[in-house]
Amino acid sequence: MAIRILVNGAKGLMGQEAVRAISADPDLLLVGEAGRDDDLTVMISQTKAAVVVDLTVASAAFINASKVIDSGIHLIMGTTGLLLEQIHELQIKCKQQRLGAMIVPNFSIGAVLLMKYAQDASRYLGQNVEIIEMHHAGKKDSPSGTAIKTAQMIASHRCSLPESRDNTETIAHARGADYQGIPIHSVRLPGLVAHEEVIFGAQGETLTLRHDCIHRQAFMPGLLLACKKVVTLSELVYGLEHVL
Ligand SMILES: NC(=O)c1ccc[n+]([C@@H]2O[C@H](COP(=O)([O-])OP(=O)(O)OC[C@H]3O[C@@H](n4cnc5c(N)ncnc54)[C@H](OP(=O)(O)O)[C@@H]3O)[C@@H](O)[C@H]2O)c1
Repeated sequence: MAIRILVNGAKGLMGQEAVRAISADPDLLLVGEAGRDDDLTVMISQTKAAVVVDLTVASAAFINASKVIDSGIHLIMGTTGLLLEQIHELQIKCKQQRLGAMIVPNFSIGAVLLMKYAQDASRYLGQNVEIIEMHHAGKKDSPSGTAIKTAQMIASHRCSLPESRDNTETIAHARGADYQGIPIHSVRLPGLVAHEEVIFGAQGETLTLRHDCIHRQAFMPGLLLACKKVVTLSELVYGLEHVL
């Protein structure tokens, strides 16, 4: 039987793409399209959805996630910008209910592979590494969820801690944001979609890993996979790599 999916944020750029992809997948049934003016809890009950895919805004992500989990159905949170403490809180809620859920900062398979390769490289070169993420001018949160996840994966596997340097900034934030000693630089420009570079530096060499997403369709195979896998989980997982 097809899995019943409700898309929240269905009128947005990602939401519209998701509606098209879900509607074309015979294993999934699109049962509702919610937006800012809808009551999500009521929509869940009216549509009898099994899964909510949230593609809205960072400021609404936690409250939306709580409504979905409190309704006892599966969440796929594609919206970026949740704080780590919030993710932890949602993990506890899901654990109490033995409920499957996913927080996916990037549905693109290529981007997930970039993070995996960066984690691997960090075992050897992780002492000196910087992340540059580049997105379209309309992206509201910075740094990107993918950049934060990449930094976490590097920090958890790096060979040694970063060298301390004398980093005087003559203009504030010239060295970017700092995640446990890993600088993250966010670029926002029209013409871009979603791009990330991870640059490792060592004596006399650099290693650059780069991923370019040039169309939102790149996110759809991962999103559809998440819709099918989330119903088999009994906890909240953070990252698509858990179901690949
Ligand atoms: N995980 C991934 O792979 C991935 C990839 C790309 C983007 N994203 C993330 O997905 C999210 C959406 O991106 P987008 O480019 O589609 O943005 P967007 O075009 O601005 O769409 C967001 C949509 O959400 C609606 N919305 C705002 N607040 C809401 C609420 N409280 N409840 C329900 N709907 C609400 C907006 O309605 P209004 O227009 O009325 O405000 C809009 O239709 C962002 O967080 C982005 O970073 C994730």
